[in-house]
Amino acid sequence: MALKLSFLAMLLFLLLASTTKAHASVFDVTSATYGAKPGSYVSKALAKAWSDACASPSASKVVVPSGTYKLKEATFRGPCKAPIEMQVRGTLQAPANAGQLTRPDTWVGFQYIDMLTLSGGGTFDGQGALAWSQNDCHKNKNCKPIPVNLRFEFLTNSKVQDITSLNSKNFHMHVFRCNHTTFQHLTITTPDESRNTDGIHIGASTGINITHAKIGTGDDCVSIGDDSHQITVTDVTCGPGHGISIGSLGRYKEEKDVIGIIVKNCTLTNTQNGMRIKTWPDSPSPSIASDIHFEDIIMVNVSNPILIDQLYCPYTRCDQKPPSKVKISNVSFKNIKGSSFTPLAVKLVCTRGIPCENVELTDIDLPTVETKALLPLCVLMSSPQLRA
Ligand SMILES: *[C@@H]1O[C@H](CO)[C@@H](O)[C@H](O)[C@H]1NC(C)=O
Ligand SMILES: *[C@@H]1O[C@H](CO)[C@@H](O)[C@H](O)[C@H]1NC(C)=O
Ligand SMILES: *[C@@H]1O[C@H](CO)[C@@H](O)[C@H](O)[C@H]1NC(C)=O
Ligand SMILES: *[C@@H]1O[C@H](CO)[C@@H](O)[C@H](O)[C@H]1NC(C)=O
Ligand SMILES: *[C@@H]1O[C@H](CO)[C@@H](O)[C@H](O)[C@H]1NC(C)=O
Repeated sequence: MALKLSFLAMLLFLLLASTTKAHASVFDVTSATYGAKPGSYVSKALAKAWSDACASPSASKVVVPSGTYKLKEATFRGPCKAPIEMQVRGTLQAPANAGQLTRPDTWVGFQYIDMLTLSGGGTFDGQGALAWSQNDCHKNKNCKPIPVNLRFEFLTNSKVQDITSLNSKNFHMHVFRCNHTTFQHLTITTPDESRNTDGIHIGASTGINITHAKIGTGDDCVSIGDDSHQITVTDVTCGPGHGISIGSLGRYKEEKDVIGIIVKNCTLTNTQNGMRIKTWPDSPSPSIASDIHFEDIIMVNVSNPILIDQLYCPYTRCDQKPPSKVKISNVSFKNIKGSSFTPLAVKLVCTRGIPCENVELTDIDLPTVETKALLPLCVLMSSPQLRA
């Protein structure tokens, strides 16, 4: 009887092993080979598991099982020989003191990978409280770099899904030069008083979809920087934070165009802004922001629900006379409903130098919270210095 049972168990084991193998080779950081243990540092085990998985000639999966692990530095680099998945089921915890990281601007990075999947239902905990209290970048131009939780660079055909980014010291996710990549089923959380904690920032990327994400931070929910094309943001909820933003654009030399943005079916609650396009005055070189569409958006008590600002200049002094050289055109706001915290629900600050063109507003219903006024107030402004 005992023999028969163990034979069955063996058979079951073989079966399980072979089905797993058919899927992907598994590199578990807590296995005897790598030796990670919950409660202690996982940095070395994870680096070794990654390099073995990345060298695997068939699809592979790096697994961080449930439990809390400390992680100091982690840059996962490709190219890998086959599709690779990192499944984080537990919690990875950054050192509270950013000085302990080897890469001053990044906690966890992924670079030069085709067909990466980051998944698992786990949490990246940036432990940002100390960094927020020390962040002086709003008044110090040469402030120290502050690490972002997750930096994705030069990825193609990838997916980031079912993970939580918690209490990042700086931006939660920074996406740079990535193509054809989807971000979905994400939870991103920092308190509303935490500075610069943008949820997802995208720059220099093409074909990025963000969908089904719940983002509450102290800064922009999603922000889209220069040289971005075909970016779609759907089914996202934002709040608290500063809303969804194109820009800021036009601050630096030789910025490239932003073309083809769709933001659809999103809900923003108690955010400082809703849908915003922001460009700096006195831009050093010309560029284009075009084909940008916001549709089916619900605003709940949003302070500036619809905003185009060609005079964007937070916390520094700008020469506002030379206009923004970012040409904004072919922009639509359609079916935007809910409530505005301020009476100025629609604000279009388009300056004379290179004025906005073809900006369309349809089905806008944004009464102020207190008065429930039926019609939104709409103001078209241009800076007094620029008026002829
Ligand atoms: C992404 O696409 C752009 C434009 O199509 C291309 O120039 C760039 O090399 C691609 N980047 C990667 C990492 O493949
Ligand atoms: C992103 O969404 C658009 C529109 O739904 C779709 O055409 C495109 O294939 C999607 N891209 C990716 C990378 O899934
Ligand atoms: C809109 O987004 C919500 C999630 O925020 C989702 O539950 C709902 O199905 C979406 N609606 C449509 C029509 O896609
Ligand atoms: C509405 O937004 C304002 C400004 O952000 C905030 O002070 C207020 O508490 C919000 N109201 C509710 C009911 O959340
Ligand atoms: C804006 O749309 C018009 C008409 O659809 C088109 O001719 C023009 O090229 C577009 N502008 C840009 C910068 O894409």
